[in-house]
Amino acid sequence: MQLTPLPGAGAEINGIDIRQMSHAEFAAVQAAYAHYGVVFFRDQSLSEDDHIAFARRFGPININRFFLAHERYPEIALVLKEKEQKTNIGGGWHTDHSYDVEPAMGSVLVARQLPDTGGDTWFASMYTAYDTLDEPTKREIARLRAVHSAKHIFGSGSDNYYKANDDTGPRIGNAAAADVLEDVSHPVVITHPLSGRKALYVNPAFTTRIVGYTDEQSNALLMRLYAQAMKPDHAHRFKWRDGSVAFWDNRSTWHWAMNDYHGERRLMHRITIEGCALN
Ligand code: SIN
Repeated sequence: MQLTPLPGAGAEINGIDIRQMSHAEFAAVQAAYAHYGVVFFRDQSLSEDDHIAFARRFGPININRFFLAHERYPEIALVLKEKEQKTNIGGGWHTDHSYDVEPAMGSVLVARQLPDTGGDTWFASMYTAYDTLDEPTKREIARLRAVHSAKHIFGSGSDNYYKANDDTGPRIGNAAAADVLEDVSHPVVITHPLSGRKALYVNPAFTTRIVGYTDEQSNALLMRLYAQAMKPDHAHRFKWRDGSVAFWDNRSTWHWAMNDYHGERRLMHRITIEGCALN
């Protein structure tokens, strides 16, 4: 097994068949995952059952409340854009499930049908985003908390993200579950549960404000933090091929699925793994 750190974020792991990892390979993948935040595998041949079995080695599966599920495997959420649709899913910087009290640990994304060109996914390191902040900002945010919400993205309000995009169709549903989900707060800087490293934990999709700040102060600080997190040097653009698998940590990375393949179909299978409260 060979591990190649990638510029910006993540590492690629080659020379492994993730359907049959030995204990030593599993431990090495887990260590790389904790350290790099996202690991990529190439040339895999995973059935849906293999995908589920791989994810289960890392933790219990979280069945997504809002995404359309695979018709035979409820554990697998479909990340789909049909060729006649304009909106994609995940088409902006975000991290999954930060609106939950115990945000999901991570996701395993398997490419099932790719466009001829485009459809790459960016991953940004929130370890690097934190590490490269200036010292006054680190002191300012050390004990701050931020509120995270799912309502404006998945809820039933007519101007909510997926509702406002009327070609979303049945890909996203269960708006009522988002409407009743209580907003939560998490520390702006977390100590990563696996690596013990500090990571920035706010994101442009689900973070709505900094606790105790006015709207103006909150927006100004969030914009400053996002600008740092979005620096191209802190991110890696992953080019999918048939057989590619990405396994990311939601606590130490953001991701953004590019929507640059209109007229072509893209289908990914995603499994999300349960996480824990963040401190
Ligand atoms: C997601 O946000 O989970 C989707 C990522 C992708 O489709 O590349």
